Amino acid sequence: MPDFIAISDLPRFLDQPVKLRGWIRAIRSSGKIRFVELRDGTGDCQCTVEAAYAEAFAALEGCGQESSVEICGVSRAEPRGPGGVEVSAREVRVLHQAEAYPIARKEHGVDFLMQHRHLWLRSPRQAAILRVRHRIIQAARQFFDDNGFTLIDTPIFQPGAAEGAGTLFEVDYFGDPAFLAQTGQLYLETAAMALGKVYCFGPTFRAEKSKTRRHLTEFWMIEPEIAFYELEDLEALSEEFLSQIVQAVLTHNRADLELLERNVAALENIRAPFPRMTYSEAVDFLHDPGLHEKLEAELEAERGRLGEIRKAISETETQLGQVTKAWKVEKLGNDLKALKEQAGELERWLANRPAHIEDAKNFQWGKDFGGDEETILSNQFERPLIVTEYPREVKAFYMKQNPADPRTVRNLDVLAPEGYGEIIGGSQREDDLQTLLDRMAEEGMDPEPYQWYLDLRRYGSVPHGGFGLGIERTVSWICGLKHIRETIPFPRLMGKMMP
Ligand code: 4AD
Ligand code: MG
Repeated sequence: MPDFIAISDLPRFLDQPVKLRGWIRAIRSSGKIRFVELRDGTGDCQCTVEAAYAEAFAALEGCGQESSVEICGVSRAEPRGPGGVEVSAREVRVLHQAEAYPIARKEHGVDFLMQHRHLWLRSPRQAAILRVRHRIIQAARQFFDDNGFTLIDTPIFQPGAAEGAGTLFEVDYFGDPAFLAQTGQLYLETAAMALGKVYCFGPTFRAEKSKTRRHLTEFWMIEPEIAFYELEDLEALSEEFLSQIVQAVLTHNRADLELLERNVAALENIRAPFPRMTYSEAVDFLHDPGLHEKLEAELEAERGRLGEIRKAISETETQLGQVTKAWKVEKLGNDLKALKEQAGELERWLANRPAHIEDAKNFQWGKDFGGDEETILSNQFERPLIVTEYPREVKAFYMKQNPADPRTVRNLDVLAPEGYGEIIGGSQREDDLQTLLDRMAEEGMDPEPYQWYLDLRRYGSVPHGGFGLGIERTVSWICGLKHIRETIPFPRLMGKMMP
């Protein structure tokens, strides 16, 4: 066992000699004392080094941000410090003196931070997001493990498309084409016929030429598939599943949510029952004059808010011209930058909004919902919205035709509130061989590479279905992020895969 302790364990070692290892988040000297803000991944704490401990004091000379150190000292309670504990250092061993660190505390643009993603992960915000991501994955798996599901690992090299040929990544498989998995679903269906309740969890790939805040080319999806489940069963399952994930994050990651300044009350609301509507009802809802009035009122309110922000900008600029102290100039400068960012964001939103409202008014039955419609719909509810029975033309070939209305399929999309939109997509599957073959022909699909999949409809076909939850979209929603790029350690976006 190592003889150093984790910062998160410090409260158990009060008034005792301790040895810590970590990185210097910040260091400053004030006369005969140096203050080291130490982080080790489990937490942060302040270490004080007095000049009286001459060797320790001298060892830190020239050590800047992110230098790695070992500190021995005595811990004591310090309610005002991070973690509530402070360490008075007696010995300091420098493990590595870092070069001038590129990410300073001052604000950097997102392009710069993305180029330094490998270092950006060390910042408190990014670490908090990664802890929430971990919790979401853990809770999702726990839910299935506790409910009798068996984990099935589905292949990543696949012979054909499942979610449309247009978004396939093709790779050379010893001279033959193969494709990176868009989903594990088709294989998972075969396993559901063997084991009843199954799930898969893995990376999935979409060559979508989309540069939106919701799209990655490589993302992680967790997918359950259950024999004898019909659409209504899937609705109930998705509701239970999402509620438990959110509750797990609230129970274990409050500090992270607070650090991210997430509105926790909005998450506390996420409990069954969720509102439900069919696609057709959702279209009527988009056409409802009551909704348009509400959206117009919101638009007016936001115009007012922009006025306020602009006023604050001009006031801050005036103040900036009057102050001289360096720290004040820096603070006001940062405030100004933040205000201008807010104003810019709001201006863009206001510029697009009238067109979105027009689109909602003129939305035609039969089209797929885009990000804008999803945003409007999901904004009207405090809980995730389950939308079912979309037009078959806009959905995947495997979805079960709706016997009550053959223009639609027995599918569900779950739209996260606060404008986040689709986080779950799923359906009951077509279990009739001929209907499925007809549908594939309609789509121009060659049935040959799918014979194994069609076999499920030849040997004891039963109703069944499932869905997929996109991990990154869920992280984005639960953490309240503006863009999906921060939800995964190394995002893969169209036109971006470094580092
Ligand atoms: O709706 P999708 O395409 O559904 C399927 O892949 C089904 N085969 C799942 C199933 O029924 N077993 O994708 C499911 C979810 C979406 O709701 C979204 O959360 C996420 O995967 N997703 C993406 N996340 C990030 N970037 C992308 N490009 C995504 N495409 C889908
Ligand atoms: Mg979908």
